[in-house]
Amino acid sequence: MTDSFYGERTPHLLAIDDDDMNLMMISRAFKNEAEVTTMRSGPEGLAWIAENNADLVMLDFRMPGMDGFDVLRVLKHDPHTADIPVIMLTGDISVELESKGFIEGATDFVRKPFIPEVMRQRVRRVLRYEYLQEHLEQEVNRQTSLAETRLAESRELFREMAIALAKTIDAKDNYTHGHSERVADYAKLIAQRAGDDEEAQKRIYYMGLLHDIGKIGVAGNIINKPGRLDDEEFHTIQSHTIIGSDILRTIQQFPDLSIGARSHHERYDGKGYPDKLAGEAIPRPARIIAVADTYDAMTSSRSYRKGLPQAVARAEIEKGKGTQFDPHFADLMLQLIDEDKDFTMRDETD
Ligand SMILES: [Fe+2]
Repeated sequence: MTDSFYGERTPHLLAIDDDDMNLMMISRAFKNEAEVTTMRSGPEGLAWIAENNADLVMLDFRMPGMDGFDVLRVLKHDPHTADIPVIMLTGDISVELESKGFIEGATDFVRKPFIPEVMRQRVRRVLRYEYLQEHLEQEVNRQTSLAETRLAESRELFREMAIALAKTIDAKDNYTHGHSERVADYAKLIAQRAGDDEEAQKRIYYMGLLHDIGKIGVAGNIINKPGRLDDEEFHTIQSHTIIGSDILRTIQQFPDLSIGARSHHERYDGKGYPDKLAGEAIPRPARIIAVADTYDAMTSSRSYRKGLPQAVARAEIEKGKGTQFDPHFADLMLQLIDEDKDFTMRDETD
């Protein structure tokens, strides 16, 4: 009957007044929209509210014994009742007393003798405000958790899409199954060793995952050609860096992806491709991926040779420090290899 101003529930009002006539008027004024409990003194009202819940208290100011301010003070100091809005019913009180009432925590003042309709409007307004405040918080919480769930879902979707793309690249190359995911894993481990935070590690992971995506644009017979490539074929293969960075440039939310694809074949000594960048001019993540990529390429089997033993790959990385590789990241890769006592990381020699 009262959902217009207090949700689905009938609000419960407590009226405390020593004047029976007033209590009767209040009961009658709200008989169609609220439950009303009436109490004839402050102590009675406080005793009732200690055991029951009220949505709003109407409190007479002038009562024998404990007056309205005394009751208000008790209500506002008790955590159980502090949040219940209180409307003070007053005769003619001074502005000073009224402002004191607001300071003590009264929500509103209604002068007696009151007009039932005015009283109803005041009460509705207060309850409506309380209701909205309470539910606004709930609504904000609900929307926040919804947004968090959606963010987590879209991150997961991105992860799965990136892995699917990586599998697409690897499917084109008969001999490098799982290459992209392994490079991503190694690159992430190197970044972790380098002290990168979780977010940065994740970025490197995705850059590793998609570094070879440009191979999609290179003919399969060249990618899968057994034996050595001639100059033209080698040139074509090299174009996967440019093709890859062009493809990934469309992902504007994540510009590093494009950088990883373009620069992962640069060499620390400047003899790499496609831009012949050297040293620190090579983007940092690309220097990390370069080590991870070479390690996995060496330890994976090819059409024309089996994967190299871990020890040989290790020696090659050691040798490439400062020429092919950023020496710092090469050292971190060597640490990873050395700690991998069981050769679980990569060793296809058996
Ligand atoms: Fe590559």
